[in-house]
Amino acid sequence: MSKRKKIGILTAGGDCPGLNAAIRGVGKTAIVKYGMEVIGFSDGFLGIINNDYIRLDEASLSGILTLGGTILGTSREKPFKKEKKGPDIDKPKLIKEHYKELELDCLVCIGGNGTMKTAYGLVKEGLHVIGIPKTIDNDVWGTDKTFGFDSALNIATDAIDRLHSTANSHKRIMVIEIMGHHAGWLALYSGIAGGGDVILIPELAYDMDVIVKYLLNRARKNKPYSIVVVAEGIKTDKKGASAADYIASKIEEGTGIETRQTILGYIQRGGSPSPNDRLLASGYGAHAAELIADGKYGLMVSKKGEKIGSVPLKDVSGKLRLVPKNHPAIKRAMGLDVCFGVES
Ligand code: F6P
Repeated sequence: MSKRKKIGILTAGGDCPGLNAAIRGVGKTAIVKYGMEVIGFSDGFLGIINNDYIRLDEASLSGILTLGGTILGTSREKPFKKEKKGPDIDKPKLIKEHYKELELDCLVCIGGNGTMKTAYGLVKEGLHVIGIPKTIDNDVWGTDKTFGFDSALNIATDAIDRLHSTANSHKRIMVIEIMGHHAGWLALYSGIAGGGDVILIPELAYDMDVIVKYLLNRARKNKPYSIVVVAEGIKTDKKGASAADYIASKIEEGTGIETRQTILGYIQRGGSPSPNDRLLASGYGAHAAELIADGKYGLMVSKKGEKIGSVPLKDVSGKLRLVPKNHPAIKRAMGLDVCFGVES
C-alpha cells in the first residue's frame, strides 16, 4: 500500500473572489477522490516560512465555495527577494526544511505573476509544486483566463452602467479608474461591456489632444455626457496622481466640460465569486489534484479555449500577459467609435 500523498496549499498575492472555490476544488478532490492528506498554510508564503498551517478536511472545506476572500489569508511575501532591512533570513531554506519536515508530496501555490515566479523558484530548489493562476487582472502568461477576472468584470461593468444616469443628469464627463496594474484587460472588457466612450489601457500610449478633440466632437453632436474608463496602470506625467485624477483634470482643462472621477479600487476584489469564477476555480483545483495524483509537478494549470490543461511553470515565470495592441476587441470597439486616445 503506497503512502498517502500529503499536499500543502497556500494563497498568495492580491486576493480575489474564487480563492476559496479553488482551495475547495484542490482539497476536496485530493481528499475524496484520492485519499490524500491536506494542509493549508496561512498568509501566502509567510505560512510555510513560519510553519503556520491548519489541517484541511471535508468539514473545513464545506460551505466555502461562495465565500469571497481566502480562508487561509494571503500576503505579498516574496521569499526570494532580499530584504533591505532587518535580519538576513534564508527564507527558501526555511521553506525547504518545513516542506521536508511535514513530509509534503506537493505544494499548491494559488496566485498571480509573482506567485508563479516564486513557485518556479521553489521548483528549481527541488520541491514538487503546482501553480493555480488567479488575479482580477487576467495577466498571467500561459492561460486564457485567471479566476477572479470574471467576478471583477461583473463588478466593474455594473459600476460603469451606474455612471450613465448620473452623467446624463448633470451633463458631465465621468472618469472611472479600473484596477489592472500592468495589463488593461479589465478596463478594456468592462469599458466595452459598460458602453465606455473612451477607454485607456497601459498597452496603448494615449494622446490627450486626441481625447479632448473626440470629447468636444461628442458635445458638438449634442451627446449629453461621456464615460471615460481608465486602467490604473496608464502612464501619467504627474507623479503620485491617480490615473483617474490625472485624466479627469486634463479633460476638464481641455474641454471646459464639468468632469468628475471615481476610483473603483478594492470593490473589484470583494464579495462572492461569479458562477463562471466558481466553475473555473473549481476546475483548476480539481485538475491540480489530478496532476498530483499522477505525479506530475512543476506545472501551472491553465485554460486554452474551453479546455483545462497545464503549462510548465518555467514558461510562465517572470512573464506578463498584456493586451496585444491589435487585439480584435480593440479593433471592433474602434469600429463602434470608442476612442483609445490614439489616432484611428
Ligand atoms: O493584482 C491585483 C491587484 O488588484 C491590482 O489590480 C492592483 O494594482 C493591486 O492588486 C493592488 O495591490 P494591493 O492589494 O497590494 O494594494
